[in-house]
Order: sequence, then structure tokens, then C-alpha cells
Amino acid sequence: MLAVSSPRLQSRIAALARFGALPGGGVTRSCWSPAHEQARAWLLGEIKTAGLTPWVDAAGNVFGGLGLSSLDAARPAVLTGSHIDTVPEGGILDGALGVLAGLECLETIRAGGQVPRKPLAVVAWSDEEGRYGSLFGSRAFCGRLDATAIPSMAAVDGERLIDAMRGAGFDPLKAPEAKAPPGSVEAYVELHIEQGARLEEAGIPIGVVDTIVGVRRARVVFHGQADHAGTTPMDRRRDAFLAAADYALKARDLVVTRGGPRAVTNFGVVHVHPGASNIVPGRAELVHEMRDPDAGVLERLARECAALAEDVARARATTVEIRPTSATTPAPCAPRVQSAIEAACSALGLRQQRLYSAAGHDAQNLAAVTDAGMIFIPSRGGRSHRIDEMSDADAIERGANVLLHTLLRLAV
Ligand code: GLV
Ligand code: MN
Ligand code: MN
Repeated sequence: MLAVSSPRLQSRIAALARFGALPGGGVTRSCWSPAHEQARAWLLGEIKTAGLTPWVDAAGNVFGGLGLSSLDAARPAVLTGSHIDTVPEGGILDGALGVLAGLECLETIRAGGQVPRKPLAVVAWSDEEGRYGSLFGSRAFCGRLDATAIPSMAAVDGERLIDAMRGAGFDPLKAPEAKAPPGSVEAYVELHIEQGARLEEAGIPIGVVDTIVGVRRARVVFHGQADHAGTTPMDRRRDAFLAAADYALKARDLVVTRGGPRAVTNFGVVHVHPGASNIVPGRAELVHEMRDPDAGVLERLARECAALAEDVARARATTVEIRPTSATTPAPCAPRVQSAIEAACSALGLRQQRLYSAAGHDAQNLAAVTDAGMIFIPSRGGRSHRIDEMSDADAIERGANVLLHTLLRLAV
């Protein structure tokens, strides 16, 4: 039975991990940054070495084709891939695994000499992590990128997408041109680390994803009054930070008690202005993220949190502004792709279990234009979005072989 080369895949994982490597381990490689652009150039070289045809679209998505040099509705392609950007202080496998395993599979198929009837391509999607905009590259590819929003898309530190893209040699206003011709993608399957502990705890090597969670983010800005931190009596302060902190605690409880059983929430960005120990905070900004696999539940939670923010602001003599920044749609995975993954597992003698994805993935955009699905492998200790994210080499090899045989089934 055809099988991937684990040493070749591991050596590419180690090579990609050098771009943006941090002294204490892990990697920071945000999209369009110099480290990311060096990684892109390296990846294009590996695509050529693997005997595939490279191309890059207007949104910066990198492709390697086997039996094709662009997408064409006349010969729909089976796509696989993930992303090579990372979160700040992230791990070496989130995204990298899916791209490099996809490349490994296509190289194995090409070298095996029995090229399937349908063309195949591996892709690295731009800015999956959403420094500037969640799932940016796959959104553009699937025709879901609002062109009018591009000029105002910015990172939490204020860096604008248009400056970052131009710095990397791309024309940001052309990104919507990355939209794939309708009907040009036969199916999409993505291999990813689970980023949770369910597979490891169950002792199951492969997860077959049935649903991908939706993620909503909003900037919540409390306005109070900057004042002298020594002389202003405690009962006369209009402290924007305390309002933000009060909101964060109450919103956390609201999501846990009023959301579905899988609802989660996070406040990963907090800015306090002017930011001096002797000034009562006059303004406090939070980025409030919430996730649920049910779009209706997310919508309701967003409304209830907005009402809560108003109540908290009033009670603390402040005002609040809420600016939604992104909302990805929860997506079911296609039964055809789930069945192909399960058949590949049976052929390889691997146990599998269906599970939902609590992380966002490009596959949820692809699900709007084609049959999309995902394969998960166990993450050590369930760790991810941290520098010690890791999966065993055997787990990676098993996942890559499941991807290989899923692709072969989808491309016959
Ligand atoms: C993607 O990594 C996410 O934030 O779920
Ligand atoms: Mn991630
Ligand atoms: Mn990822």
C-alpha cells in the first residue's frame, strides 16, 4: 500500500519551524511578516522539488498542483492544505502539518506513478490565524471577502493589512480576485493537530471532524475619565479598566450559563489608556471572542453580551462602544469526505472517532463551495497555541497516511 515518507515529512516540519523560530522554542510567524515571506519562498522551492507546479494567487495563497497549473471548472481539483502563518509564540505544527503533509502526499502520489484521474493541489492559505482578518486567504478564495472592508482591516496593534500586504509585495485591493472559478474544487480535506486532549485521552489515533465551530470577535471599548490616581476619591472615579474587568467576568459567566454545552469565550487582548500607574484608566479596550458550533446560539450570545456591556457601563459611570470585528460561520463537514476518511482509516487498520472542532479552520470557508472535511491527530497533552505544542512522529505519520488514502479515494 502506498505510504508517505515520515523522515522527509519530519525534515520539512523542522525546516519550516526555523522561519520565525523563538530562542525558547516555538515560532512567531504572522502572515506577510519577513519570517512568513521567507517561509513562503522556501515552500515554493519545496513544491518545485516535489515535482509539483507552484503558483500564488492574489490573496497570497500558495498552491502546488499535481496535474494542473491553475484551477479550472473543466477539471475540478481535489484540494488539501492548511496554513503556514502562526499565532504569536505559537507551536510548529498548527497549520504547518496540514501544508507539509499535503505536499508529502502529492509527492508520494507523483513518485508512485499512478496519478489519479482528478487533479490534486496542496495549498497554504493566507492569514488563517487572523492577525488582520480571520481565515483571510480562504475567505478570498471562496468569494467571502468583502472588498470594501480591506482598507480598514488591521491588527490589534494598529498595523493595517494594506501596509502589511504591500510590504510583502502584494496588492491588497486585488485580493478578492483570488476567488476560485465556481465548480473548480471537487473536494477539500485538511489534516490538522486536534489542539485539544480528546483523542489522546480516548487513545484513538484519528479524529474525523463532523462540525467546525463559529468564532465571533468584537472590540469592546469602555470610556471613563482619566484622573489623578492619588487625589481622586475612590467613589468619584469613572475607571474604564474596572468596567472592562467587571464586564469580562460577567460575560464569561453569561456565555457559560446561557450558551450551548460547547460555548467558550476569551479576552485575549486588553489595552488600558493612557497606561500609567498614577492615572485612573480613562479608556479600556478588550477583544471579546466567543465560539459555539451553532450560529443561532452565537448570535443570541452576542446580543446578550451587548446588553450586559451597557448595564455594566451604566453601573460604573462609563460608556461603552462595541465594534464587531469578525464572525466566521460554523460549518458541517461533508458526509462524503467523512466517509472517505473513515474508509482510509479502515484500510490502514486505524481506529477513528467523529468529533467537532473547537478551533476555527479554513475548511469552514471551503465547506461553502465544495465538500470539505478534516482529519485530526492527537496533540500531546492537548497543548496548542503555545510553544510546546507537539504531536508524536508516529501520530503524524499515521495522519499523513490517512490523508494520502483519503485524497486517493476522493480523486479517483
Ligand atoms: C485558530 O487557530 C483558532 O483561533 O481557532
Ligand atoms: Mn491556530
Ligand atoms: Mn490551524
